[in-house]
Formats: sequence, structure tokens, C-alpha cells
Amino acid sequence: MPFGSHDSMNPDQTRQLGCTLGKTLRGGEVLAITGELGSGKTQLVKGIAQGLDIAPSEITSPTFALIHEHEGRLPLYHIDLYRLETPRDIESIGLEEYFTRNAVVAIEWAERATSLLPPNRVQITLSHLDDDTRRVIISERERT
Ligand SMILES: Nc1ncnc2c1ncn2[C@@H]1O[C@H](COP(=O)(O)OP(=O)(O)OP(=O)(O)O)[C@@H](O)[C@H]1O
Ligand SMILES: [Mg+2]
Repeated sequence: MPFGSHDSMNPDQTRQLGCTLGKTLRGGEVLAITGELGSGKTQLVKGIAQGLDIAPSEITSPTFALIHEHEGRLPLYHIDLYRLETPRDIESIGLEEYFTRNAVVAIEWAERATSLLPPNRVQITLSHLDDDTRRVIISERERT
């Protein structure tokens, strides 16, 4: 797992970082991804998919579906909580059923569901440094 802070100069580099991360996954990981609009969350998930032997082109920004399932060397659940406003909306999707031992769960806008996430998760925060530069911080969220 590439823990730490990474500066990415272009979308390719962000996907490459995602791919490196994806290759380390063994199943059971929850990746809580946070960062403003256009910060590169979906680009990163494309790379994670690639690291799981899933075609990056399969990864899109969910429009109506909040959850997309992809079959790779492990199942990948790609979840986007952007459209869920209220705690009740978020509870209604039953997130916990995706947190299984064998799957990888990548959640965009994860901060909307903090209280519903497992304590052991990987926290990923993206931010804009400028037009094409992004900072990606990957850290382990320890059980407290
Ligand atoms: N270094 C970079 N890393 C990632 N994306 C970049 C970078 N530089 C420019 N971009 C551009 O920024 C945009 C990132 O879009 P992306 O859909 O990945 O963001 P997002 O965080 O998922 O947004 P949303 O909140 O709408 O889901 C793309 O248009 C991409 O081409
Ligand atoms: Mg996105």
C-alpha cells in the first residue's frame, strides 16, 4: 500500500498511483476517498481498477446508480455518495452489506458516511494544488 503523500502532475500519474495501490489489495479493504469536485477521485479509482485487472474504461462517474460492481481478480464495488444528501438517504443504501472479506470497496465522497464506515479503512484525500497538479494522501485509519 503506497501510504504517504504523493503529488501527481497529470491524470495519468493519478491513475498510475491508483494502479500501484490496486495491486496491493487482497480483499476486505475499504477505501474512503475524499476530495472536492474534479480533484481526481474517479481517475484514481480507474487506476485501482486496473490494479485489480478491471478495464479502467468500465469505471465511470455513477449518474443514477450509486453503486457499480466490477469483476476483477477481486470484486470491486465503486460507490459514489455525491447525490446522497441526508443521513437517511445514506443509511438507505445499506453500505454494510458491501463490506465483505473478499471484496474491495472504493467510496467517493466517503465523508458523507463517516459514521457508517468500518473503523479499519484506508483514508485517501485528494486536493488541487493547481490546474493539473493534485496531492493524494493515503493513510491508514487505525482502530481506536
Ligand atoms: N493530476 C491530475 N490527477 C487527476 N485528474 C486530473 C489531474 N490533472 C487534471 N485532472 C483532470 O481533473 C479531472 C478529475 O476528474 P475526476 O472525475 O477524476 O474527479 P472527481 O474527484 O471524481 O470528481 P467528482 O467529485 O465530480 O466525482 C479530470 O478532468 C482530469 O482530466
Ligand atoms: Mg468522481
